[in-house]
Parts: sequence; structure tokens; C-alpha cells
Amino acid sequence: MEYLRIQGGHRLKGTVTLPGAKNSLLPILAAGILCNKPVTIHNVPTLTDLDASLQILRAVGWGAEYMDGTVQLFPAMHMHSTIPEKAAGAMRSSVFYMAPLLHRTGKVELPSPGGCRLGQRPIDIHLEGLVKMGACAKMEGDILVLRAENGLKGTNFRLRYPSVGATETLMMAAVLAKGESKFFNVAKEPEVVDLANFLNTCGAKIQGMGTDCLEITGVERLEGAVHTLIPDRIVAATLLAAVVCAGGEVCMNNVCPVHLAGVLDIFRRMGVKIWQTEPGQLKAQMYRRPLPLGAVKTGPFPKFCTDAAPLVAAALLTSTGRTTIEDTVFENRFDCAMEFSKMGACALKQGRSVRIWGKEDYAGGKVHAADLRGGAALVCAALAAKGESKIFGLEYINRGYSDLQRLLSDLGADISLQSTEVEKISLYQKIAKAE
Ligand code: EPZ
Repeated sequence: MEYLRIQGGHRLKGTVTLPGAKNSLLPILAAGILCNKPVTIHNVPTLTDLDASLQILRAVGWGAEYMDGTVQLFPAMHMHSTIPEKAAGAMRSSVFYMAPLLHRTGKVELPSPGGCRLGQRPIDIHLEGLVKMGACAKMEGDILVLRAENGLKGTNFRLRYPSVGATETLMMAAVLAKGESKFFNVAKEPEVVDLANFLNTCGAKIQGMGTDCLEITGVERLEGAVHTLIPDRIVAATLLAAVVCAGGEVCMNNVCPVHLAGVLDIFRRMGVKIWQTEPGQLKAQMYRRPLPLGAVKTGPFPKFCTDAAPLVAAALLTSTGRTTIEDTVFENRFDCAMEFSKMGACALKQGRSVRIWGKEDYAGGKVHAADLRGGAALVCAALAAKGESKIFGLEYINRGYSDLQRLLSDLGADISLQSTEVEKISLYQKIAKAE
């Protein structure tokens, strides 16, 4: 089994170009099914969620190829409506294929979606909106079956919560529905806006992206597009947390500071010096223990985003006081708190919050990731530890980071990919030599 070995205490220094955003890529890949012409997507990061998405696209009949940071999508000759269980179970984003497949085949069979165990993660808002647009939904065993033999029609619908995924599902449903749609209390995350911009490039008629209300006029067909993904703001947040943990200074290229609205404020309150050196470039510098934040809460964009919460928690483990972070978005965001404690840090999960008592130093240890951002947070925490840490559960981290180990080692971190199997072999060899 593979794991990351990290020796803390090495400062970071260097320049990184941010990859394309995972949470833009995944819905845009699904939206490619709505297009009648080929689609090209640039700035694509190599993630295991990308592999699962390509499997789904090919399984429903779509042509889907990845090469050197670019994905090419080609319309299917014959479509299938069943999403493969393995790929669906690998990630939450299999839900994005509901609306496109309904438009293409009038039916969808979706095994229960996978993804990080951040809470219940129901899809009731997605389904309530789709049913209002003319779909019918029922469970057949463990498979969710959606049908819309007469197609989807435009509607007015208020989301009970500004769900990112539900907003994206309803956007993909409305662009080819018959008539007008108005959606209220929608998500305003940059990745939602990126999807809307992609669809408009393909010929959709979406207005209001980035606001609380989307107005969409259904069209007959969508062409293709060449689209470049926005930068991944959560990778940026990960690098900021890493600079706080390890100390040093990192320059980030291909950054959109507006997308980091709620996050930059949090890191600046910790005492991180962050400034824009030139358009699209941010520099972050930290050579002291971070300041505590008291009580902070996450929230929908443009507030302090939930995905950055475990990363900020890791950054605060060596702070000079106490902080409580409440995640208002997911009920189970802080499984990483227990793992922080195994490293010798002082963190306690309480319901949907984590309480942190900053310490000057802690030793490090053997820990296991339980979700994507929690796993990245453990990597950051290990950079601050005085000793060696081993981080297992890389299958979670690899869902959202192309090569976190390389990203950090290029900046000066002492981090390497190890394997328990290789260790066993070398141990046996030593024993054999000794005999
Ligand atoms: C997206 O997940 C992101 N994933 C998540 O990033 C991100 O944390 C989340 O948005 C919030 O910003 C992708 O874009 C692929 P939600 P999503 O629907 O769409 C509840 C990462 O690490 N809800 O906004 O699943 C839900 O349970 C991932 O990159 C319903 O109750 O998030 C949650 O409590 C993790 N019913 C809250 O809303 C619904 O129908 C927010 O969920 C839908 C959601």
C-alpha cells in the first residue's frame, strides 16, 4: 500500500502554476453530452475523478480522450442511459450526468453516487427541480431511475439551499428544455459560473450567473466549444495552508484572487502576508506562528469556503491561541481532527465544528485520510511537525490533486511516495543478509 512520508521542518520557497479546477472540470465533462459537436477542454488536471468521468462518458457512448492537459469529447453515434456502478460509486459527480442523459435518451439509471463522506449528501434538490421540469424519479433496487419521455420543460424553481451541484444540474436541464426557466437562491461559486460560460459558448442562453437568480431560455441544440478551465482555488488554499505550516514564501501563477475572496481574509487574519505581484499572480509569505482566529464559520461563496476549512484547521495547529471552525455546509467535515491529534497536535471535532488549541510544536505520526480535503490537510500538518509523518489514504487525495507530493517537493518539502510492499521486501532482504 502506498503512503506519503513527510519529514517536517523544511521551509517552502518557489513558484507554482495553479492547475485547472476539478470542480469546474467534472460538471463541464458531463455537460459535453449536451453538445452536438466536439468539445475541447484545456488546463485539465490529471485526477482519478477525471478517469472515472471518462469511464462514464465512454460507457454512455461518448468519445472521450485525455492528452497532455486537454480532453477531447466527441458526440456518440448510439447512446446508453446506464451509468456504470464502479465509476458512479467512485465520485459524487456522477449525479451531473442525470440532466444530460435525460435530454439525450429520456432515461437515466444512476447507481448511488460515491464521493467523500462529508455527510448525508442527499440529492433531493436536484430531483425536486428535475421533477418540476417534467422528469419522474423512482428507486428500482439501489438504482435511481429517472425518465422524461416527453422531454423537459422550463420552470420557475427556488432552491431551498444554494447547492452547487443542484444549481449545475438544473442549469444543464434548462438549457435544452422547452421554454423559459428561472431559478432562485442558486449557488454563485466560480465553478458554477465557469459551467455557465462554457454552456453559453456552446450556444446556450443563460443570464444571471454569479447572482442569486439564473434566467435560462431553452434552445433547440448546442454546438461544441473550446474551453479553458478556471484555476483551482482549493489548490491555492492548500498552498497557502502549506506555507503557514512549513513557513517560507510561495508565488502562485494563474490565480484569480476574486475566486479566493473569503479564504484570503482568513489567511491574512492569521498573519500571512499575501500580495498581488502582477495580474494573475499572488505571493504568500509566512515566517512566524499563525495568530488564532477565535470563532469562524464557513458558508456558500463568497464566504470562507467549506473545502478550505480542514486546510485552515491544519494551518492553525501551531497558532498562538484557540480557534473554533464551524462548517455550516457539511455535517462531517472534520474527521481529520482525530488524525491531527495522532500527530501530537491539539484538535477536537465537536459536531460540525473543530476546536483547535495551538501548540508551538508537535511530533508528527502515522495518520489516515478519510476524505479529499482532510487528506490534504494532514499533508500540510505534517509539514509543520517536528518529526516524520506517514500519511495513508492517498486514494482520497489523488481524487483532487494531480501530484501533491511533486507540487510540495518542488517547493522544498521533504516528502516522498513510499510503499509498504517495497518496505517489506527490503526488510526481508536485510533479514536474509543477516542470516
Ligand atoms: C460541490 O459539492 C463540490 N464538489 C464540493 O467539493 C464542495 O465542497 C461543495 O460543492 C460546496 O461548495 C463538486 O463540485 C464536484 P452542495 P456538492 O450540493 O455539489 C446539501 C471537493 O472537495 N444538499 O453545494 O455535493 C448537501 O448535503 C468537494 O472538491 C442537499 O441537502 O455540494 C450539503 O450539506 C467536496 N440536497 C450542502 O447542501 C441536495 O440536493 C452543500 O452541498 C444537494 C445538496
